[in-house]
Amino acid sequence: MSTTAPLLQIEALSIEYQGQSGVVRAVHEASLVVREGESVALVGESGSGKSTVARAALGLLPPRTAGIVAGRLLIEGHDVTRYTERQWEGLRGNPVAMVFQDPLSFLNPVMRVGRQIAESVQRHDRAAHDVKARVAELLDLVRLPAGTMRSYPHELSGGMRQRALLAVALGCRPKLLLADEPTTALDVTTQAEMLALLRDLRQRLGMAMLLISHDLGVVWEECERVYVMLRSRIVESGITREVFRSPAHAYTAGLIRAARAARDADGRFETIEGDYATTGG
Ligand SMILES: Nc1ncnc2c1ncn2[C@@H]1O[C@H](COP(=O)(O)OP(=O)(O)OP(=O)(O)O)[C@@H](O)[C@H]1O
Ligand SMILES: [Mg+2]
Repeated sequence: MSTTAPLLQIEALSIEYQGQSGVVRAVHEASLVVREGESVALVGESGSGKSTVARAALGLLPPRTAGIVAGRLLIEGHDVTRYTERQWEGLRGNPVAMVFQDPLSFLNPVMRVGRQIAESVQRHDRAAHDVKARVAELLDLVRLPAGTMRSYPHELSGGMRQRALLAVALGCRPKLLLADEPTTALDVTTQAEMLALLRDLRQRLGMAMLLISHDLGVVWEECERVYVMLRSRIVESGITREVFRSPAHAYTAGLIRAARAARDADGRFETIEGDYATTGG
């Protein structure tokens, strides 16, 4: 397979859930690409299908109630659309890993953090000869004290848990990190620290990122390209600065206006060079 194939390629993908009151089409003919080293955002209103796209990209759709009904999903050029759970197990974590909004639901509550990072290293990083040293290195990488190794998830703060989950993900040496609202549950200061950490890691490890976020200020600062989702469809995509300066879709323009109003209200994005929307408001 060509080494220039995108890390993640989603082609006209449609996904349905079998809900209580019938079938819900959560994603309709969505197409998206993330190449090596890129930082890409997926934004859009609640319920538009962003998390469903991310879950599909890791084979994490609920097996009995959700399914890909059309389109293709390729990872490094390999068609994984019809992969079985067994096949996904070999793929999850590397080349694609994920961090979630709620780290507690993905960390094992009865296992020490160090053990969980070690398992991820043992499963995905065959080159790691000294697992303990690699765990210490990963904790250092996500700026957690070495003693965290012996902690249980409930003993950590929200920000620390998110870092611990990040260490588990990085233990797989992913080329692409899917980050689904990784800072939403954190307070503003902890959010800023987490974002700075992600940026630093991306630069140091050359890792690509697909960031799902409600925060357009963050997207403006962290992501070169952006996809905008509205009611299960990707309605607009492009270079972040170009899309934000002159959105083609009325929905995108509205999102940007709202973000700008919020920014003006709390002054949080004063550092953004210039203005990221020239439309209306
Ligand atoms: N397990 C599920 N069973 C049935 N329907 C679901 C399930 N998960 C999501 N959906 C539906 O699929 C649609 C897309 O949901 P999804 O979680 O992907 O949206 P989202 O863009 O991530 O929203 P948010 O910004 O609130 O996280 C919604 O209509 C949602 O109700
Ligand atoms: Mg979501």
